Amino acid sequence: QDIPSLHEVFADYFPIGAAIEPFQTKGLKAELLKKHVNMIVAENAMKPSSIHPTEDQYNWGPADQIVQFAKENNMQLRFHTLVWHTQVGDWFFIDRDGKPMIDETDPAKQEANKQLLLERLDSHVRTVVSRYKDDIVSWDVVNEVIEPNDPDGMRASLWYQLTGTDYIETAFRAAREAGGEHIKLYINDYGTDDPTKRELIYELVKELLDKGVPIDGVGHQTHISIHWPPTDLVIESMERFAELGLDNIVTELDMSLYAWNDRSDFGDNIPEDVLNKQATRYRELFEAFKAKQDILSEVVFWGIADDHTWLSGFPIKRTEAPLLFNDVLHAKPAFWAIVDPEKPI
Ligand code: G3I
Repeated sequence: QDIPSLHEVFADYFPIGAAIEPFQTKGLKAELLKKHVNMIVAENAMKPSSIHPTEDQYNWGPADQIVQFAKENNMQLRFHTLVWHTQVGDWFFIDRDGKPMIDETDPAKQEANKQLLLERLDSHVRTVVSRYKDDIVSWDVVNEVIEPNDPDGMRASLWYQLTGTDYIETAFRAAREAGGEHIKLYINDYGTDDPTKRELIYELVKELLDKGVPIDGVGHQTHISIHWPPTDLVIESMERFAELGLDNIVTELDMSLYAWNDRSDFGDNIPEDVLNKQATRYRELFEAFKAKQDILSEVVFWGIADDHTWLSGFPIKRTEAPLLFNDVLHAKPAFWAIVDPEKPI
């Protein structure tokens, strides 16, 4: 297809990125990426369970493949993610006697476990950051640490139960020390448009900044749908964090065709008006992003084409089409809506 390059269209505003798997660095998908994005992030290959599966073993191969692809094609990279409560090896949380740390009841041993866990985290962060600090500027340090439904708004993960918020502090400090001032450190989460969740993140970040913890910005995953949230809420959240002097980035953008609680399936027939609604929503969103370029520095999609998206398996297996290119890699109405905002949809 002879069509404009997405990243060239947005060159005056922000880099345009996509999440990829190592196998997508070859073939047609790679060609599509080379044309349209100038930033990439590993969809899974840099998560703790992939990059550090056991205490004494790092698995650099798949991550390196993605770094290599980016370098060969003059793309920037993001790192996702140093810390998460899922896709993390169980070994982090097992004590030296082979017992789950969470089962420990002796206060002295609990304290020793906490120190061991923080040491393991510190070592993980320093090792990974040292390896990629010259190749990767933008880093998700912690992912999804807030959960409004958990007792104090902090996600009750093993990390939190065993260390309180110390794990967050340790991760940011270790990343800064190992990577220096030039790498940018983000706290990443979904649902940041929700005012309740947004304020919980705000309070946490403010408290950490007051303690001197090095946080440069907030990553907004932005897994949205054609129905929700309104663009204004997305933008208000960015403005709120900018009040703290923080940068904002859109880290995992996609737009489901279904409402959150809807379990229906369009099957082989996605209605045209649904794709047009998606196009209208994407246009509105990107126009708002452009207007906020002073507080928004990257926009990254969670994939590039509808043939590969986590949403086709979540919350149920069904036809999904949340991205700008369809399952045969052709540009959708949403693509044209953002590259040519004057064109009628
Ligand atoms: O690699 C194994 C493979 O060996 C095995 O045969 C297969 C069987 O299920 O699973 C493969 O692992 C899968 C992995 O993706 C790689 O494809 C996991 O089961 C699957 O759970 C995993 O899903 C990823 C998910 O995070 C895990 O929570 C999705 O690809 C990835 O898109 C998704 O990304 C997250 C972000 O990291 C954080 N924000 C939300 C976003 C969407 O959930």
